[in-house]
Amino acid sequence: MVTILINIKELIQVRERNIKKVSGKDMAFLPTLKNAFLAIENERIIDYGTMDKIPSYQSAMLIDCKGKMVFPSWCDSHTHIVYAGNREQEFVDRINGLTYEEIANRGGGILNSAKKLQQTSEEELYEQSSKRLKEIISLGTGAVEIKSGYGLTVEAELKILRVIRKLKETFSLPIKATFLGAHAFPSEYKENKEAYIDVIINEMLPQIGKEYLADFIDAFCETGYFSVEQTERVIDAGKKYGLVPKIHVNQFTSIGGLQASVAKGALSVDHLEIMTESDIDALKGSDTMPVALPSCSYFLSIPYTPARDIINADLPLALATDYNPGSTPSGNMNFVVSTACIKMKMTPEEAINAATINGAYAMDLSDEVGSITKGKKANFFITKEIPSYGYLPYSFGSNVIESVYLNGKRI
Ligand code: NIG
Ligand code: FE
Repeated sequence: MVTILINIKELIQVRERNIKKVSGKDMAFLPTLKNAFLAIENERIIDYGTMDKIPSYQSAMLIDCKGKMVFPSWCDSHTHIVYAGNREQEFVDRINGLTYEEIANRGGGILNSAKKLQQTSEEELYEQSSKRLKEIISLGTGAVEIKSGYGLTVEAELKILRVIRKLKETFSLPIKATFLGAHAFPSEYKENKEAYIDVIINEMLPQIGKEYLADFIDAFCETGYFSVEQTERVIDAGKKYGLVPKIHVNQFTSIGGLQASVAKGALSVDHLEIMTESDIDALKGSDTMPVALPSCSYFLSIPYTPARDIINADLPLALATDYNPGSTPSGNMNFVVSTACIKMKMTPEEAINAATINGAYAMDLSDEVGSITKGKKANFFITKEIPSYGYLPYSFGSNVIESVYLNGKRI
């Protein structure tokens, strides 16, 4: 049966021909239709247009959207939602003056989360993670990437990836899995980092490949974490199992990880709080999507990704949450879009493009989601009655979403 949303005040991100991503000046253009309808059948978008051109279907279920807007679901291309417990004590330590780095050096940070996760059963981990997934779906996210990286042993990394596989089987939104064994060096490898790289390459990856547990490979390429050369080796090893690189770079320092990732054909480079001119130059002419994570900058009080410099260089930009227990305990894409406007000086049009079609690109999903296009998945949300689409980022901290749909079904 056909479902038709009628009297939509404004239908957002309508792309007649599917595009993979938007870059530079094109990001300032957000195509919309006022007083529109949207027709869905068998989980897909089959038609849309203005109300005066609505076709007559034999039988259809009508949903009246008077005064309300319809957005394609947010596409969150960077999360770490499979983790155990929380780290609010470190939050208090930071309020009291310790830095993120100092906390990590004392065995807190990623290693603290890994310890908790290693002691948590797969069932319990699934319970905690599915709650987070339900929460972000209710906030409008309709496609998501989830990383491992809080396990750091063969057993615990596989446990995370199996939880992600179960989430993929259970939930109706597209989920992509990323292997991030190279997130931090476990303390027992502090003096012998090469031995841990060896575990990643020769123990974790073969098993992940055998069970088809990941789509992408990631590494935290950063001073004090994984060097450029170690990151390159992890990328090359992942490629042998068909894993496409999506890499954490330039969060605290610019050390050449971005250039190396682009040279290795990364689908995305993520964080980018610290960017030099040479980093921006390296992205030019590549197919790599730069991804900004403004909630992380907000929570850690670190610089924001220089969105204007990136967009003015005619590059694309995607926005994602980075939802994780240490640097971003929030998976709210509405807040990300608001913060990108407020702190990174992106216009609402640019931020919405970055959080939909460009986010889809950063997970290799732009043929399925990210815009209102015939044939794409009917993943979208209906807002409350709002005056304009710019009201969404403007009214930061409030929730303007009334209902969410995945595969054409209300959740
Ligand atoms: O993307 N930067 C590396 N990893 C995570 C945070 C890690 C943590 O503190 O748990 C991030 O911000
Ligand atoms: Fe991250």
